[in-house]
Amino acid sequence: MKIRYRFTLIFIIIISSFGFAKTPLKRNKPFLHIIPKPVSIIKLKGSFKLNKDTRIVFDTLDFGKRSIAELIQKALPFEAKFELLDTFEYTNAIILTLDDNIENKEGYQLKVTKKTIELKAKTDAGLFYAAQSLAQIIYFDSKKNKIPSVQIDDYPRYEYRGLHLDVGRHFFPPAFVKKYIDLMSLYKFNRFHWHLTEDQGWRIEIKKYPKLTKIGAFRDSTMMGRYSDKPRKFDHTKYGGFYTQEEVKDIVKYSQDRHITIVPEIEMPGHSRAALAAYPELACTKGPFSVMSIWGISNDIYCPYEKTFKFLENVLTEVIELFPGEYIHIGGDEAPKSRWKESDFCQNLIKEKGLKDEHQLQSYFIQRIEKFVNSKGRKIIGWDEILEGGLAQNAAVMSWRGESGGIEAAKQHHKVVMTPGNYCYFDHYQSLDKNEPLAIGGFTPLEEVYSYNPTPTVLSDDEAKYIMGAQGNMWTEYIPTGELIEYMVYPRAIALSEVVWSQPEKKDYKDFVRRLLPHMEKLKKDGVNVANHLGDITAKFTNTGNSISVHLQTSIDDFDIRYTTSGAKPTIKSKKFKKDFEIDSDTNIKAISFYKDKKMGYELNRKIKMHKAAGKKMKLLIKPSKKYYKGGENALINGILGSNSRYADDQWLGFNGTDFIGIIDLGKRMPIRKIFMRFYNSKGAWIYPPKEIEILVSDDNVNFKVAGAFKLKEYDKSNILSVPIRLLRTTYTRYLKIKAINYGTIPKGRQGGGHKPWLFIDEIIVK
Ligand code: ACM
Repeated sequence: MKIRYRFTLIFIIIISSFGFAKTPLKRNKPFLHIIPKPVSIIKLKGSFKLNKDTRIVFDTLDFGKRSIAELIQKALPFEAKFELLDTFEYTNAIILTLDDNIENKEGYQLKVTKKTIELKAKTDAGLFYAAQSLAQIIYFDSKKNKIPSVQIDDYPRYEYRGLHLDVGRHFFPPAFVKKYIDLMSLYKFNRFHWHLTEDQGWRIEIKKYPKLTKIGAFRDSTMMGRYSDKPRKFDHTKYGGFYTQEEVKDIVKYSQDRHITIVPEIEMPGHSRAALAAYPELACTKGPFSVMSIWGISNDIYCPYEKTFKFLENVLTEVIELFPGEYIHIGGDEAPKSRWKESDFCQNLIKEKGLKDEHQLQSYFIQRIEKFVNSKGRKIIGWDEILEGGLAQNAAVMSWRGESGGIEAAKQHHKVVMTPGNYCYFDHYQSLDKNEPLAIGGFTPLEEVYSYNPTPTVLSDDEAKYIMGAQGNMWTEYIPTGELIEYMVYPRAIALSEVVWSQPEKKDYKDFVRRLLPHMEKLKKDGVNVANHLGDITAKFTNTGNSISVHLQTSIDDFDIRYTTSGAKPTIKSKKFKKDFEIDSDTNIKAISFYKDKKMGYELNRKIKMHKAAGKKMKLLIKPSKKYYKGGENALINGILGSNSRYADDQWLGFNGTDFIGIIDLGKRMPIRKIFMRFYNSKGAWIYPPKEIEILVSDDNVNFKVAGAFKLKEYDKSNILSVPIRLLRTTYTRYLKIKAINYGTIPKGRQGGGHKPWLFIDEIIVK
């Protein structure tokens, strides 16, 4: 007994000293690094030893099995021979068989024992996924050609697991599209949404309408820099390209071999300027029209003439012949109605068909197209605007303006693909690093993507069945190269793969990141331009009233964080973050993470301002949008300034089209002279500073009187606006009521024109 006790003690000491010595990336090392995480992994004893005699055995010689076998062969360190199954008594063999007992049509079982590796599935798709999992085990989890014994039972959570690619704003050659599809297949995605037509370019050859590509596939010039730049800059260079039908067929075949169905998108009635440049007679007003060189939306859209329907039906006929999938995407988003409002033809049509307005006219438009697509044995899917004015009978909805469209559609028993901007738009920024390549806006870091649950809890079980899955979207206004696409999509798509495949109760972000690390290395080695923000530092602040407690962390604990509080640049020699520290005066915190001696993430730079309201209480009379409310009710007076580079951090509060009204309780009467308010200004992202600010004071929180006001002019340049509001006189008060009045409606012709903009605030500094 005694001896055993001592032995145990020594063992404990060894283990804990490992902890101290910090063996980065070894702690909590996952057993297997498979992504997306399988439903069930049971570790077995022993391992399978690969050698040059290992064979790959399959039950038919058809192409499907053969390509799956080739996939496995590629992952093996030896040239394995193929063999046709004739007995079940194998050793040293990797065996692929179909098995009807596996329930899910994409499900599989993968069993590694000393003797064999068995892959079983109901369909080839399932076998393909089993092979992908096996390839990952071989790459990441086998040592000296020994594959650990294991039984994996796996199937996807959702039937629709998609990635999208906009080839309209920028054109990407077939070889890149194939690489994109290849990468998707590694992570068990099964839908490729190919966004083929845009205001800025028509990208698919249509034999009946050659001008669509001759004219519509090329623009004279492309916008450089930001949409909101003044003056806007252009490159004055002809730009374009398109896919021939032969290339399309080749890509369709390529994706089928990888069990990916393409969802082709032909946009209507909006985003159709390139088509109108080619066939101006399809617009409500007389052309000529150019293929757009500027981002944003064209007011000129298809006019619902009979000849337009004929044109679209002919286009769709060719598209349907090229793409065998169930769904044809007909767009439907962002179609300004101004031309239809001004058109006698449209107004007469509205009367003649007994429609209420232009939204119902769009609904009439989509329903006609739906009937046509249905008559060809296919179904339509469209962006959530197709709900407005009534949904076509069998249409599926792609919910992008948040989840509400998807929820409404599911309640109406229509199929839904979730792709809300907050979680699924990979054109958003992914890091607070101000040196990130130019992007459209937003902030959707890896963890945010990972946290997504595509089935809203407000749906009943019956309604939830209509959620087919989710999709990541890659819009390319600001993404001119394939390299940049990869940077934006990877690793966020890998996080999404786990959202759409894995069981939600199995999801664990830290565990995901640990599994992700070798994938990132492998992708990089294979020439994929993955973004690495795993070392990005997040700062968590707690204002305790008199001081602010600071916590710094990275995605996993394997990195060292070094920081300064003087505003100086941190180095490997700076103080190491070990535990939370306190701040009680104006401070500039900077921090960098290191792995060994290598700098990992960007330089965190956060400013803390101690002021009269810092750490006090605030009541928000109008609540921010749930998404931009991470800092909670006191975020505007916690002393921590919101990030200068991203409005979607944990400090900025975002109000969706509303005013801001809040009451600060200073705890006791005190003299106030001046207030500063910080606003985010990003017109491209529909974020505008307020048009005016009003400050009211009160001692009883009931009777308020005006103490100061400020009217803002239009600001174009600066991202952050710090607005000083000097009170009429130094005023003693306990309560401060602060109102910031929303800018109002965004003028037509700008991004978000006709909508009310967002209002983003942080911080309110009281002096
Ligand atoms: C979209 O992002 N306009 C669907």
